[in-house]
Amino acid sequence: MEHFRNPRNMGEMKGADAIGEYGNPVCGDLMYIYIKIREENGKEYINDISFQTFGCAAAIASSSMLTELAKGKSLDEAMNITRDDVASSLDGLPPIKLHCSNLAADALKDAINKYREKKKY
Ligand code: FES
Repeated sequence: MEHFRNPRNMGEMKGADAIGEYGNPVCGDLMYIYIKIREENGKEYINDISFQTFGCAAAIASSSMLTELAKGKSLDEAMNITRDDVASSLDGLPPIKLHCSNLAADALKDAINKYREKKKY
């Protein structure tokens, strides 16, 4: 509830290095994750992250939590954040709302994949 009432890192990010997108197949709600990357000693880290969602309260709380979990992590570490990590960091979600926590983790993976794809060219 705290992450829903005071969501962290909410809003569009200008000049993001990549934008991830994920649509929830269960309810049709959409999620965007914006990331800015910093390179240090040949490794890439999430320097800044924000989200925009058109989802429910559980989706907002999960996205807020995900951004807190991912900030400062290397891209490999961030890729390994699971939906379960997000749900358990929120001290669990009602089973009917578990699908809502998928949006953020999957949108982050999409953002990282798009960033990596872009870097190849
Ligand atoms: Fe759609 Fe929760 S009901 S994200």
